[in-house]
Amino acid sequence: MKKTKVLIIGAGGQLGAELAIALRKIYGTSEVVTADIKDPQGVLLEGPHEKFDVLQRDKLFELIKKYQITQVYHLAALLSATGEKDPRWAWKLNMESLLYVLEAAHELKLDKVYWPSSIAAFGPETPKAMTPQQTIMDPSTVYGMTKLAGELWCSYYFRRYGVDVRSLRYPGLIGWKTPPGGGTTDYAVDIYFKAVAEKRFTCFLSADTYLPMMYMDDAVKATLDLMEAPAEKVRVRTSYNISSMSFCPAQLAATIKKYIPEFTISYEPDFRQSIADSWPRSIDDSDARRDWGWQHQFGLDEMTKDILYHLQKGKN
Ligand code: SER
Repeated sequence: MKKTKVLIIGAGGQLGAELAIALRKIYGTSEVVTADIKDPQGVLLEGPHEKFDVLQRDKLFELIKKYQITQVYHLAALLSATGEKDPRWAWKLNMESLLYVLEAAHELKLDKVYWPSSIAAFGPETPKAMTPQQTIMDPSTVYGMTKLAGELWCSYYFRRYGVDVRSLRYPGLIGWKTPPGGGTTDYAVDIYFKAVAEKRFTCFLSADTYLPMMYMDDAVKATLDLMEAPAEKVRVRTSYNISSMSFCPAQLAATIKKYIPEFTISYEPDFRQSIADSWPRSIDDSDARRDWGWQHQFGLDEMTKDILYHLQKGKN
C-alpha cells in the first residue's frame, strides 16, 4: 500500500495546529509536513515545516513532489470579519489558493484533498433554524462567497476529474490553543481567554445572537472521520453540514459564570453583528450522520469545563 504523506497548508491557524497534532499521531511526525506563511511556533517546530505563501503555485507543486505528498489539507484563508476589510484580497487569496490545490490534486494525482467550507456560505434568505443540507445559499460576506464558490469548484473537480476532495461546513470553531483568528464566531474563543485573564469581556455581538458552534476536539474528529470514510460513503461532494451545539453570548457567559463567579460581560455590537445575523442559528447535519456516521461529543458545559481547566492550568 502507498504510504500516506500529508501536507497541511495554513497549519499555523486555529484548526491547522490541532490537525497537525492529530495527523502526526496517526501517520507519524515525519509523514505530516506543515506549511504556513507565518514563522512556525509550538507544535509546528516538532516536524517538517515549510514557510509557504499559498499564492505561490509553483512552490505548491514543488512541495508536493519534494515530500511525495498524497493528501493535502488546505486550511489557509481570510475569515469573515478580516475578509470584509479587504474584499478583493480575500477573494484572491481564498479562491486562487483553492484552485491551485485542486489543479495540483488533479495533475499530480493526489489521493485526497480536504478543504473547509463554513456556515458563512449561507445567507439572509437561508432558513435559520435547522438549516438543511440543500437550501437557499446567498452569502453576504466575501468570505462566504468564496466558500460557496469553492464548494462548487470542489464538486466540479470531483465530477470532471475524479479528484477525491472532501469538505465540511464548519460552524464557529472554539479552541484554547491558539488565539482567535478574525472570524465573527471568534468572540466565543476570546471570551475564555478574557474570562481567565481579566474576569470580564466586552462582546461584539448582542446577548441573544444564536450561532452554531463546535469544540475543536469535535471539529478535528469530524475532519478525520470524513477523511477516513470510504469514498463511496462520501455522497455530498460540495460540503457537508456539520453540527454539535448552538448558543448565544448570554448563555455562554452564564456557563462561564458557573466556574468563574466574578465574571461579567457587556455588549457593544459592531459590524460583525450583521454578519452573524445573516447566518443560521442551528444546522441539520443528518446527511453527515447517515453517510459516514458523524457523532459529536461536546456540548456547551463539557466544552467550557475543558477549556477553563486548560487555560487556568496554563496560568498557574
Ligand atoms: N468562524 C468563521 C468566521 O466567523 C466562520 O466560518 O469567520
